[in-house]
Amino acid sequence: MNRRNFIKGTLALTAVALVDPIKFVVGSKSAEAADSLKWWQQKPVYQIYPKSFLDTDGNGIGDIRGVTQKLDYIKSLGAGAIWLTPIYVSPMVDNGYDIADYTAINPLFGTLEDFDELVAEASARDIRIVMDLVYNHSSDQHPWFLESKSSRDNPKADWYIWRDGTPDKPPTNWRGIFGGSAWQWCEERQQYYLHTFAVQQPDLNWENPDMRRALYDAANFWLDRGVGGFRIDAIVYIKKPKDFVDGKPDSDGTCSVHNMTAATPGILDFLHEFKREVFDGHDIFTVAEANSVKPEDLPKWVGEKGVFDMLFEFSHVNIMFPHGEVWHRSELFKLSELKAALTASQIATRESWYPIYFENHDKPRSPETFFPHGTDKILAAKALAIILFTLRGTPFIYEGEELGYMNAKFDSIDDYDDISSRGQYDLARADGLSDKQAMRFVQKFSRDNARTPMHWNSSPNAGFTSGEPWLPVHEDFANCNAEIEDADENSVLNFYRKLSGLRASSEVLLRGEYEELLPKDEKLYIFTRTLGDKKLCTVVNFSTQKVDFPKKIFDGAKKIFGNYPDEKNFLRPTEAVIYEF
Ligand code: NOJ
Repeated sequence: MNRRNFIKGTLALTAVALVDPIKFVVGSKSAEAADSLKWWQQKPVYQIYPKSFLDTDGNGIGDIRGVTQKLDYIKSLGAGAIWLTPIYVSPMVDNGYDIADYTAINPLFGTLEDFDELVAEASARDIRIVMDLVYNHSSDQHPWFLESKSSRDNPKADWYIWRDGTPDKPPTNWRGIFGGSAWQWCEERQQYYLHTFAVQQPDLNWENPDMRRALYDAANFWLDRGVGGFRIDAIVYIKKPKDFVDGKPDSDGTCSVHNMTAATPGILDFLHEFKREVFDGHDIFTVAEANSVKPEDLPKWVGEKGVFDMLFEFSHVNIMFPHGEVWHRSELFKLSELKAALTASQIATRESWYPIYFENHDKPRSPETFFPHGTDKILAAKALAIILFTLRGTPFIYEGEELGYMNAKFDSIDDYDDISSRGQYDLARADGLSDKQAMRFVQKFSRDNARTPMHWNSSPNAGFTSGEPWLPVHEDFANCNAEIEDADENSVLNFYRKLSGLRASSEVLLRGEYEELLPKDEKLYIFTRTLGDKKLCTVVNFSTQKVDFPKKIFDGAKKIFGNYPDEKNFLRPTEAVIYEF
């Protein structure tokens, strides 16, 4: 047996017979056949929360020109696209996810000229701009809603979801995702409207063809300006059930609207129309946010027979919420659950593509989320980066993740800007938790953890603004910022840059099949990527202890990358390694 076959045999044996009976194999049928990957499959996407990125006019709020100024920084990460969270006209109740004009730029962020300049400058660097489409709901200040709510018989009367009721009795017991009833009474119409999220975010009625046309026209407006794709918000909620009935009540008598309206049958008909009217025929990518689409249903949503190119499903980021995304009902999770979620998504997208992510503007910082208390946070940030760049799919980097950001911890609920944090705090208090207990969950899961301003350098306010930042800068900015990390060969930032280069130049990482080993192990995450006779293996020790790993698997393997400079024949706490065979 030659060395390569020996290793192959050893791997299979170890996975199948010696340790765990289950093994998973994922990848395109014939990796060699997938000879031309699309541009968005080859490079990572960098996500920007413009409000927190870089302020160029001193008002304490980041802006479009700030993004343009930092294009070379983003390019240094090898990114092929920038996903901007919403920059449209908005009252900013939910920081732009409440849109009052789908085709105009929020003056807080700049002008359409600034936007065109960004698209052109990014394109000169081979980077495309991706817009966020928020099409489940608009702002209650959108002219469409103002007209819709003005009477029961105006031309847009049916563009939102209206139901009868009396001021003291909403149509159903549905609870909005940010807390409180999902129904809001409207005096003018003497009716309720549905809002899956905040009161100020009324749900659009996708059953109305004129409304759908208006949304498609808005998306086409941005395509005409040269955008490279769309991230589509909260898409699972656009189709409502035929009958609106009470859901199984929680202890407070309400039922999350999510349980009643997510992924309602028939939704894919709307989405196929959306695809025909907007996406088809353009060299763009689409990635939709789809909490609750199960990995096994992914083939209906993504790829050739689906609608989108990629789907952000939530299984791996929601493992701590087995009872729904209520923060104070979160639970400790096992590593095997995290691994199972990641593997399930890899399997489900074997014929399509997967957006790999650990962070975004709605999630706490990942090193503290996925590693146990007491873990070295720099090692953890690097270990997650190794997974991000070696799974099969497009890595999504969220601003600050590449610097090894940690969670912010504000002492009082009044210090939090995020509408969802305040809603979750109220829920926890209504459930009997003390202020201290409720704050513990807010500090752990608040979306503001991801929204504190970027740290550019060690100057006041981390170089983010010359004014008063809209959200306090993290206290650790003097140790963790782009300038310092740029100059430090061993920084998290330079680790990301190297990994991005490694992925871009590795056919195995771009195209190889995924196989998980030892799925039940509660300390190690091990997977291989295989293309023809080439194989790479990622090994991550999620524990804070030294682990003797099954050396047989690694016989003859060469370490090519890792978060410790040297190599031992055991794994150190939080050690992550990429091996080559
Ligand atoms: C998901 C977005 O990511 C989040 O930030 C927003 O609050 C909700 N959708 C509502 O649009």
